[in-house]
Amino acid sequence: MCGIVGFVGKGDAKKFVIEALKKLEYRGYDSWGISFVEGNNLRVFKETGKISEIFPEKIQAKTRLAIGHTRWATHGGVTKLNAHPHTDCKQNIAVVHNGIINNFESLKTDLEKKGHKFISETDTEVIPHLVEENLNKNNSLLEAFQITLNKLQGDFAICLIVSKENKIYVAASGCPLAIGIGKDAKYISSDLLAFAGFTSEVVFVRDGTMAEVGENLKIYDIKTGNEKKVVFQKIPTQIHQAERGNFKHFLFKEINEQPKTLEKIVAMDQKEIETNAALIRNSFGTFFTACGTAYHAALSAEYLFARFAKMHVNTAIASEFPAFENFITDKTLLFAISQSGETADVIEAVKTARAKKAKVFSLLNNPDSTLGRLSDVVMITPAGREIAVLSTKAFTSQLGILYLLSCATAGGLDKAKKNLKDASKSVSEILKSSNIDQIKKLAQKLKNSKNLFTIGRGFNFPTALEAALKIKEVSYIHAEGFAGGELKHGTIALIEKDVPCIVFAANDETKDAILSNAQEIKARGGYIIGVSPKNHPVFDYWLKVADVSDLSPIVNIVPIQVLAYFLALEKGLDPDKPRNLAKSVTVK
Ligand code: G6P
Repeated sequence: MCGIVGFVGKGDAKKFVIEALKKLEYRGYDSWGISFVEGNNLRVFKETGKISEIFPEKIQAKTRLAIGHTRWATHGGVTKLNAHPHTDCKQNIAVVHNGIINNFESLKTDLEKKGHKFISETDTEVIPHLVEENLNKNNSLLEAFQITLNKLQGDFAICLIVSKENKIYVAASGCPLAIGIGKDAKYISSDLLAFAGFTSEVVFVRDGTMAEVGENLKIYDIKTGNEKKVVFQKIPTQIHQAERGNFKHFLFKEINEQPKTLEKIVAMDQKEIETNAALIRNSFGTFFTACGTAYHAALSAEYLFARFAKMHVNTAIASEFPAFENFITDKTLLFAISQSGETADVIEAVKTARAKKAKVFSLLNNPDSTLGRLSDVVMITPAGREIAVLSTKAFTSQLGILYLLSCATAGGLDKAKKNLKDASKSVSEILKSSNIDQIKKLAQKLKNSKNLFTIGRGFNFPTALEAALKIKEVSYIHAEGFAGGELKHGTIALIEKDVPCIVFAANDETKDAILSNAQEIKARGGYIIGVSPKNHPVFDYWLKVADVSDLSPIVNIVPIQVLAYFLALEKGLDPDKPRNLAKSVTVK
């Protein structure tokens, strides 16, 4: 997990690294740190909390070499000692790391026996100590680094500096890392965003390679130590930083952008949709895979393709994909959905599928990402950058595109586009200030709830899951989503007086059954919030949405996104950066 950054060259390295870390905070914001060389001394500065909350000006030194890290804790709590960079016993070597070292415990025990003193609970700290140990055996730094890397099991992107060298040593295996080549400087990062605007020339540090980055750049194979050809690539220079505009929070801004993003989908190239729909239609054994919110879009795809394409597609949470690996053949189409294109579990599934010669189709929101580079076919959701940790506009864009693809498989694209246009208008309607005020009032009522349930059937079963996720991610209220018929198989035991339950009652074939489920909950004291085109006596609170037929999942989720936002505000929480979460999850 986490974001890593490095700078070597002319200019203020420390300033670049801190500014870049702020851009990468979406990868984790538990704690952060930087290391640089001042004179001949290695200095390390770390803090817990968000970078923007403290004053980096405290770090005075001007330096031409620095590395930095923003952390999402995996091994070891959120403390200053566990924050990166980590150092060796003599404080000569500093390391920042993204990924997980699976065998760190045995490595640590060995090193402790040899006298190394550890001060953190992290897996990363073994790296500087191992390098130190190997340096003691008269190896050069490059050799010591290579020997160390060959001992690590797991995934990593690493930057390392030492007190007496004007170079950064980097390595990657299973985690993204790129080197930006500027005129007088080199920029290193796990994310191109860090040096967007500084250079358009980049070298990707491929899996299993390491590099010496100084005035010159040399790449080596980690296993053999053999030097490899440096491959330069051009990237788009304009990766814009998103602005909040007049909105107080990115989350609310992004929710409000949805009518426009849905319209952009309506305007997408007809041929691209039809060609890609045909690819799905003609594939044999299609798997959709994704994590988190994107997984809910994948689950919707299962329903959409069943209805419109009359096809059964399989859906797997990406981290569970290995259980189904044996069904992947050279005829399979793996359809990966990811906002960021950097989610480790999805990348892993894609790599497995590629190894089995399956075709990979990715639906991504980030036009330049690891998943994009690994895929045979890529479609980009035109949602633009999503900054808030909660996925909103990317999710409804995914749903919009999946709807068009599924309808296009049966020749119904024109009608589908018209329906999507209508849905976009209905989303605008929900976001009118009178409706927002109504949702705000509901948030005031629900803010002290301990538990909340959401139910939906058919197309709106994934909506129920996504609604529960939105609420718990940002308000920390325990929320669980169920298929309407399923709540009574156990969880109904938790319904007591005034427990809120959101019921998605679309005007479709599931309507009567879901309203019966609402009655069952009400009979036990539950407080029913109906999201529906029509009011019904079972509803204690009614959130009106337009009747948009098969597109109800897009329209139905919007009032709940808004509700989640106001619940966070009512509880005094940061809607853009909820605790313990990260926007991009780059560890398995
Ligand atoms: C994280 C984010 C979620 C997101 C999930 C998958 O958990 O907090 O909002 O849905 O990752 O991310 P992806 O970028 O692959 O869509």
